[in-house]
Amino acid sequence: MAKSSPKYQCNECAVILSKWAGQCPECKGWNCIEEIRPVTGGAGPNRGNWVSHKTSTELVTLDSVPDVEAARFSTHLGELDRVLGGGMVHGSVALLGGDPGIGKSTILLQCLTRISEQASALYVTGEESLQQVSLRARRLELPREKLQLLSSTCVEEIVAHATQLRPTVMVIDSIQTIYTDSLQSAPGSVSQIRESTAMLVRLAKQHNIALFLVGHVTKEGQLAGPRVLEHMVDTVLYFEGDSSTRFRVIRAVKNRFGAVNEIGVFAMTDQGLKTVSNPSAIFLAQHEEPVAGSVIMVSREGTRPFLVEVQALVTESHLGNPRRISVGLEANRLAMLLAVLQRHGGVPLYDQDVFINAVGGVRISETGADLAVILALLSSYRDRPIGNRLLVFGEVGLSGEIRPVPNGEERLKEAAKHGFETAIIPSANKPARGFKGMKLITVHRLADALNAL
Ligand code: TYD
Ligand code: MG
Repeated sequence: MAKSSPKYQCNECAVILSKWAGQCPECKGWNCIEEIRPVTGGAGPNRGNWVSHKTSTELVTLDSVPDVEAARFSTHLGELDRVLGGGMVHGSVALLGGDPGIGKSTILLQCLTRISEQASALYVTGEESLQQVSLRARRLELPREKLQLLSSTCVEEIVAHATQLRPTVMVIDSIQTIYTDSLQSAPGSVSQIRESTAMLVRLAKQHNIALFLVGHVTKEGQLAGPRVLEHMVDTVLYFEGDSSTRFRVIRAVKNRFGAVNEIGVFAMTDQGLKTVSNPSAIFLAQHEEPVAGSVIMVSREGTRPFLVEVQALVTESHLGNPRRISVGLEANRLAMLLAVLQRHGGVPLYDQDVFINAVGGVRISETGADLAVILALLSSYRDRPIGNRLLVFGEVGLSGEIRPVPNGEERLKEAAKHGFETAIIPSANKPARGFKGMKLITVHRLADALNAL
């Protein structure tokens, strides 16, 4: 590439000159002309621009950085605030992914209309028409006077409107429909998504706009588009849930401003999404009598413990390759637990079909469910109910050892609150000062747990 001749720019009025001068010919200011250079390499935001080669940033030490709490505002949905780490941070970007029809547009419309009563809010719809959005808001009886709506899929147009309006919070529904004029490829393509997201993130940071991006997911449950999308934003939230149940869970899988794996629980009603503040109540099935194959565990996803019923069904298989089906729990983990149960518990299940399920459509991603799964399998296999006042948690290792899980005492407290009387827990999780109100059976190895039953 030919070496371009240097250019100069005024610091005060930004006029570009071909020659250096002591005084700016435009604003008549003195000593404000600086050399600028084109940015040619890299893919940074300034690529193709002319910038000053002097650095305006300084080196600092860690302790000289002032402590500032991230300023947050409420989304008016307690459970969404919880997932975000205590409210949405001003100027941050959150990506909300989930299956079609799970409620992404609904929840964001609910939040934005409520926020718009106090602050400026902009809802950009690229999928639904203005009428559809308005109709939904009317049906849900949401306040409709203040929310600004924009039906557009061109990122340049969106940025222009947002720069003028300077909203506190903005929603893009969805990022896969947005395109930029600067690229030839079709909307939804990897390069379009990446470039449009980069422009929107820059807009959010520049004008301190809190931005929610709605993202589609692929059949495998991953966010559609480039993987780098997740790196570009501050928070990644996934909407989970079974379309057959009315419960929905929003999980933070990345959060620069809070705990990951934090979950918020909602119920889809004809009034839109309602928060569920006591999730233990919904993930427990209400059996009158104890039933075989059902074990209650206390899970801790994020920062909150809650009770979940794990169900297992073990039946004789007539297939060469018996089925191992897992709903809400990890399938690989199930295969491993079956092997441990056979090797260290002496229970051969190789000729049995095995199904396990976490009740209520919740997905358990932590290992604390291991012991509950094993005991549920055994209970179903032997067709012997385990008392429904019994609680179980613990991780199971490959050599049959029962390993501790984090926050044991907190889990026990949650169970005691719901009237559980006995718990089978890893010995290393035994509270040092004892635990009032519950009988604790501590186990070291799988054999101890099976004996305790
Ligand atoms: P929607 O928010 O459009 O989903 P997404 O944007 O994630 O694709 O959700 C629509 C679904 O929610 C639809 O199947 C109907 C259901 N729904 C209710 O059950 N109650 C309601 O009040 C609303 C608005 C939607
Ligand atoms: Mg939608």
